Amino acid sequence: MCGIIGINSNRPVSVSIINSLKKLEYRGYDSAGIATLSDGLINEVKSEGRVDNLEKNSLIQSMNGTIGIGHVRWATHGAPNSINAHPHSSQNVSVVHNGIIENSTLLKKYLIGKGHKFKSQTDTEVIVHLITENLKNENIAESIKKTLKALHGSFALGIIFKDQPDLIIGARRGSPLAVGYGPNENYLGSDSYALKSMTNKITYLGDGEFCILKKDFVEFFDEEGNKINKKVLELSSDEKKYDKGDYKHFMAKEIEEQPLTLKNGIKEYIDSRNNDINIYNFPWKKSELSSITLIGCGTAYHSCLMAKYWFEELTSLNVSVDIASEFRYRKNRFKDDTLYTFVSQSGETADTYAALDICKKANMKTCAVVNVIESSIARDSDFVLPIHCGPEVGVASTKAFLGQILILYMLALKIGSIRDDIKKSIFNEKLKNLIDLPKLAEKTLATDNKIQSISSIFNDVKGSMFLGRGYSYPIALEGALKLKELSYVHAEGYPAGEMKHGPLALIEEGLPVVVLAPRDNYYKKTISNMQEVIARGAKVLLITNKSKDEVLSENIWETIEVETTNEDLLPFLLTIPLQKLAYYSALKKGFDIDKPRNLAKSVTVE
Ligand code: AGP
Repeated sequence: MCGIIGINSNRPVSVSIINSLKKLEYRGYDSAGIATLSDGLINEVKSEGRVDNLEKNSLIQSMNGTIGIGHVRWATHGAPNSINAHPHSSQNVSVVHNGIIENSTLLKKYLIGKGHKFKSQTDTEVIVHLITENLKNENIAESIKKTLKALHGSFALGIIFKDQPDLIIGARRGSPLAVGYGPNENYLGSDSYALKSMTNKITYLGDGEFCILKKDFVEFFDEEGNKINKKVLELSSDEKKYDKGDYKHFMAKEIEEQPLTLKNGIKEYIDSRNNDINIYNFPWKKSELSSITLIGCGTAYHSCLMAKYWFEELTSLNVSVDIASEFRYRKNRFKDDTLYTFVSQSGETADTYAALDICKKANMKTCAVVNVIESSIARDSDFVLPIHCGPEVGVASTKAFLGQILILYMLALKIGSIRDDIKKSIFNEKLKNLIDLPKLAEKTLATDNKIQSISSIFNDVKGSMFLGRGYSYPIALEGALKLKELSYVHAEGYPAGEMKHGPLALIEEGLPVVVLAPRDNYYKKTISNMQEVIARGAKVLLITNKSKDEVLSENIWETIEVETTNEDLLPFLLTIPLQKLAYYSALKKGFDIDKPRNLAKSVTVE
């Protein structure tokens, strides 16, 4: 949830650190700070709010240190203000941290007992004083090793020392951390994105590892302090994909990129010449699998829920889905003929990564559906299915959702065909419809003007509901999440058939209710659920697909029609108007579209 940068160079580094922090703001933006070393002193500047506030601080100009660390924060312990902003420093040590130190209260008590004075309410500050305490009797490597062993919880750390003007320490447990290699300088960063503008040569620290980063070389150690060798990865330079182009927001760009996301995914996996889906090197035989468990968080969980309907329809596998933060603490009954599948855009979500770790420790089969192929979840899974949608920067996930459900749909289709759960003729027909999907998404994106005018319905209401059945139910949840996280409106996604079991009481005159009722097997039932809410005064926005038949109902406030295709592909198209509704509603409110309040793009703490 926070962003870390460190630079060790022979040139002043404060400007480069500030520029890198701006690229990291998608990970958290409550507050920001920088610390550099010069003339034997640690110089620290911190500010509340965005990196721009930090940059405006006149002290930055006088920071001429050639070694420094920086941080953008998403608050976990202590209010988002300049006191609690990172770095946290004593006279001898300065630390930036991403993660949660679970035993910080105990450590703080011990350190206060040793005479240490605390300034902030953060868990991070205990690390500063613990290192300072250990440095009294140990050298740097030993004091770091001892400190890391004493910490419970997760951390990615960048540490500089007053008396060590030529090194930065990086350490990692649970939260990602990368080293970057430059000309006569080296870097530390929460992920490759922070380092991309300076280098494409990257090394990822593994769990429990730490490094000593000098300007001309980097040494890596395991948690016992043994030196280890690490691979240097060369990343593709996709810098241009990281800018908004002539879009006002990354989210607007990423919504419009969805036909391309679908095209890329289809190109990657579908062999149209042989009318097949290629999932190369799938490690398991069909006889080894009898069930699949799909696990994720937020939008990625909605992808899992969407996939559940497809796996049930297209395969004879038993299917279960789980929210990662629930799965990781439940008493799971592991079965070795289950494929545990982890869905994550960033591949760094702490809860999803922890759920993967539990399955790996139980020697289960693990598969990752991710966008960032060099991420922790990808690296630690037995098998990876990349979604190839390019960098998604907007905190509210859009193209990654469509990319995830596309891969999951193709996986279900492929497994169904390998196991002869579906006839070849059905497989061929579905594949043909799938290949046409990007064009239909393109056309559906064109329903923009109508959605813009409709979206103001959400601007001064106390809540709203999104209803769907069957394939449309996970999309109703996703549409509600988009509105919540962008427009800060309470929006509830609900199975349309469940309304009469309580939530109907919420319906009152003028309450906006979005009803997803495509002409599929559930259509008639959903229309009658819709009439139940209209009868009680709801202002219904019906989202359906184009058809020659009229909709069998009156008093519908507005209708949006998406393009039509076979019913199991309609969820792809129904999603698009919901993303736009949320986008335009937030735009009218003047909210920050790409960095909504309280959120971050990659939730790397639990
Ligand atoms: C979705 O719009 C949110 N940004 C959030 O729910 C996100 O999907 C969730 O945090 C999971 O992230 P991941 O896909 O990177 O694991």
